[in-house]
Amino acid sequence: MKKLIKINPFNVVIFGGTGDLALRKIYPALFHRYADNQIKCDFNIFSIARTEKNNSNFYSKLKSTIINSVDYDIDKNKIVDFLEKIKIINIPKHTITDYQPLKNVLDKTSDFQTIFYFSTPSAAFGDISETLEKCNLINSRSKVVLEKPLGFSLASSKEINSKISKCFSENQIYRIDHYLGKETVQNLMVLRFANHLFEHSWSSQDIDSVQITVAETIGVENRGNYYEQSGALLDMVQNHLLQLLCLIAMEPPAKLDANSVRNEKLKVLSSLRYFDEESVLKDTVKGQYVGGKIIDNENTESLVSSYLEDINKYESDTETFVAIKTFIDNWRWKDTPFYLRTGKRMKKRYSEIIINFKKVRHNLFLSQGDIPGNALVIRLQPEEGIQLLQMTKIPGPGGYRYKPISLKLDYLDSFHERLPEAYERLIIDVLRGQQTLFMRQDELESAWLWIESIKDSWKKTKLKNVLYEAGSWGPGNDVLEKNHAWTK
Ligand code: BG6
Repeated sequence: MKKLIKINPFNVVIFGGTGDLALRKIYPALFHRYADNQIKCDFNIFSIARTEKNNSNFYSKLKSTIINSVDYDIDKNKIVDFLEKIKIINIPKHTITDYQPLKNVLDKTSDFQTIFYFSTPSAAFGDISETLEKCNLINSRSKVVLEKPLGFSLASSKEINSKISKCFSENQIYRIDHYLGKETVQNLMVLRFANHLFEHSWSSQDIDSVQITVAETIGVENRGNYYEQSGALLDMVQNHLLQLLCLIAMEPPAKLDANSVRNEKLKVLSSLRYFDEESVLKDTVKGQYVGGKIIDNENTESLVSSYLEDINKYESDTETFVAIKTFIDNWRWKDTPFYLRTGKRMKKRYSEIIINFKKVRHNLFLSQGDIPGNALVIRLQPEEGIQLLQMTKIPGPGGYRYKPISLKLDYLDSFHERLPEAYERLIIDVLRGQQTLFMRQDELESAWLWIESIKDSWKKTKLKNVLYEAGSWGPGNDVLEKNHAWTK
């Protein structure tokens, strides 16, 4: 068995450390790995906040977030010990003077590796990197983790990257896409490359189409300012959906190391067919939610407001839903449509990939009508699992009557261990220096080029949002069908 890389003493410095993402994801992830004894070494966490405004209630919020995230038996002292590791440092501006308190604490542990975690708007990433460099806080053991979005266009993303790359080399940079840390997403690699059965039929010869859906019931919440700049296309498609598409479509990598996998993903991204004014009208749909009813997990119905009410504006072109039919112009995927769909305020929260296989070549059971093709349904969340829909004879008389029955693998039934959160795996990978699950800059640029072909063509054609009711499945199926996209 491969030996796991040992985690050596470390510091994590979280810029944006009192922000929502840090509270909801980063601290709990570190905590669970600590509680699970995966982190056994000495470590410190420094939470960088611009003002003292949030200092006072930070610890109580943090404590309750961590307590609420624990769904297993735990020694309560672990929580106390963990919280003691976290110290707030206020840094109002990116100047050598303001960084002095940080330098003072890091200098005391100069033999630790230091992870700088940038969880602020990406416009600040360049300034933070430059100031860290000027303060001599970056060394060969340092790493930097970048939260999305990295800019709002190819040009801004390149600009941010060029500033960061002056201070950190590519093998020190970890661009997070938390979808890659999800257990079920990692299972796509095992499903494809550890099962002889599938790999043989994994191409346009046997596959009719691929559907990737990430539906959410939440709205934009309090992220209106950010979302107005991103919309569903940049918030979800540019990263999460494209990464899923890459894992489904890439060639088997030579090895599992970061560059072998990233090289294969890059080839997929650079084979995506660009959109123009004609294809964008035919093969994309954008929508925006209006008020409606949402049913939550407890089956309680609640009325929710429209996107415009959520962001407090009278008008906005921002899309909260997008459906795209796209093609990968390469040998394996010639003429196989990939349907990508994502939206906020939809009827149900689920992320799913469906591989639709072609129909049988010759129908022996003509009297029973058409035989649908097999489908492999990969449910990423919730109710994680895999189903293979196959035609099965209905028992009893009446000739060869059949219907699709599924062979099921239910993750929760098959594995009883806790499924770690995506951030847990990703942060451990950063500590161990494993970059496979993080995006390389050229992957990002390639994704931008394709995304910009959509954005530019939307602009030129002035494509309007189709309004859809919150709590529905998004723009009506007639709109999707017109565009050859799929129904639920
Ligand atoms: C984030 C987006 O990257 O992913 C959010 O910014 C979205 O808008 C979230 O809600 C979805 O992640 P998950 O893990 O809940 O599917």
